[in-house]
Amino acid sequence: MNESRVLCRIDEIPDSGAISVLIDSSTGGFEVILLRQGDQVFGYHNECPHQGRHLDYVPGKFLIKDGRIICAAHGAMFLVSSGDCVSGPCSNGLARVPVRVEGGEVRFA
Ligand code: FES
Repeated sequence: MNESRVLCRIDEIPDSGAISVLIDSSTGGFEVILLRQGDQVFGYHNECPHQGRHLDYVPGKFLIKDGRIICAAHGAMFLVSSGDCVSGPCSNGLARVPVRVEGGEVRFA
């Protein structure tokens, strides 16, 4: 069994919603967005490929509609399931952070 780091419990993420978690590192850490769709969780760096801003409108609060997450800065839209940019001022998708759900816990994959 892989003992990778626990990021949160899946029930801490609202279904069809998201939270952010801060990952400590020797270079100061970074934020990961954890988006939930039922039993699935998708992870991305909280950094928009348009101008590098955080996607949340206030810390930890995200605009999500119809399976898409919308950057609060200028409205770029990304698919929750892939991070692909589908609309707005972006040409690249979100940087994926592989995660998995195991025993109700969300962990790095
Ligand atoms: S920084 Fe996200 S759309 Fe501009």
